[in-house]
Amino acid sequence: MDLFEYQAKELFAEYGVPVQKGQVASTPDEARRIAAGFAAEGKPLVVVKAQVKTGGRGKAGGVKLANGPDEAFEKAGKILGMDIKGHTVHTVLVTEAADIAEEYYLSFLLDRANRAFTAICSVEGGVEIEEVAHSSPEVIARIPVSPLTGVDHAKAAEIIAAGRIPERAAEAAATLAERLWAVFTDEDATLAEVNPMVLTPDGQVLAVDGKVTLDDNAAFRQEHERFADPGAADPIEARAREKHLNYVKLDGEVGIIGNGAGLVMSTLDVVAYAGEQVKGAAGAGGGIRPANFLDIGGGASAEVMANGLEIVLSDPAVKSVFVNVFGGITACDAVANGIVSAIGMLNERGEQVDRPIVVRLDGNNAAEGRRILNEAALPVVEQVDTMDGAARRAAELAASVAKGA
Ligand SMILES: Nc1ncnc2c1ncn2[C@@H]1O[C@H](COP(=O)(O)OP(=O)(O)OP(=O)(O)O)[C@@H](O)[C@H]1O
Ligand SMILES: [Mg+2]
Repeated sequence: MDLFEYQAKELFAEYGVPVQKGQVASTPDEARRIAAGFAAEGKPLVVVKAQVKTGGRGKAGGVKLANGPDEAFEKAGKILGMDIKGHTVHTVLVTEAADIAEEYYLSFLLDRANRAFTAICSVEGGVEIEEVAHSSPEVIARIPVSPLTGVDHAKAAEIIAAGRIPERAAEAAATLAERLWAVFTDEDATLAEVNPMVLTPDGQVLAVDGKVTLDDNAAFRQEHERFADPGAADPIEARAREKHLNYVKLDGEVGIIGNGAGLVMSTLDVVAYAGEQVKGAAGAGGGIRPANFLDIGGGASAEVMANGLEIVLSDPAVKSVFVNVFGGITACDAVANGIVSAIGMLNERGEQVDRPIVVRLDGNNAAEGRRILNEAALPVVEQVDTMDGAARRAAELAASVAKGA
């Protein structure tokens, strides 16, 4: 999960990484009120900053200086609603303007290739960091950090020195680095970045911008729910997550359920291909495409199948469902029984199983699985023996429902 700048700075503040005061506004009026608060403290100069989860906000015009509440109102009005690299600005951070003498760069990140962490530090920070990395990579230091020993003050000083941070800023920068490392490890982040890390004329070192990516795999031992962005999450994906299903919403019409991520990925391809063909055969009309990714894993119990079907069918765009199962450790007869009881369960729960379900069973005990489904004679279920054939049938069914046939 990526954090907004204001959330990253909340974490920074908890760990003693120096940040300036600020508050979030979603209307120009709120921005004015926040700026008025700073003005009353004798700090009329503020910066209004777009809160979107992408870099390059400054260059896109999403970071503006404002002198006093009226200007904050006006700048917030310009920035709210802006589109920055496909992200709409819904909120702005109104924060004290920093007096900037120099801008540096500092980050910690997970280095998967080397199975370690890396610190990146440079005296040349700010909005041009990408260009610097390109034109003069030698001024950007990459220092490996052992997960076993981490970053103590001596290591932090080594990182700061490698980044050629000048002597007058070095001690404060090393302290900041040590605390940023605490954010990074204690919060299970995969990225903690400060750009710019600012030196003020009176010798303070501040985090003026912050980017943090939290590792969702560590969510169970963290309290990161508070950072979740309910506006951004797809509601079906959110419900799938509650049911511990590995579901990703896509834009098509054919619901997909399979066992194993690789099989589901290739099912998406096969359905997309079949959808093109069906569309070609039917002449004009929209294409038929996969509506989701859903891997129900190895177990594929009746309950998991029922939850999966419920989630897939809760997407109103779904016109047909393709259940593609390759029996392995879980044999096809168990899966077939799972499908039969899942549909029974959904009917009992009052969930309408009202769209056609094409099932393809192959692998371990496929014949027995097919027999079970035939015997159950469920009106919504149709069996096709091959993956290509089943994909084509599911696409045809979706196309005919889409046409209102
Ligand atoms: N509170 C502030 N006071 C003074 N100047 C600021 C402040 N916040 C931002 N700036 C200036 O605006 C520039 C861009 O801001 P910031 O780094 O926060 O956004 P960004 O452009 O999204 O960053 P990045 O390019 O790292 O993604 C900073 O380098 C700094 O010069
Ligand atoms: Mg920045």
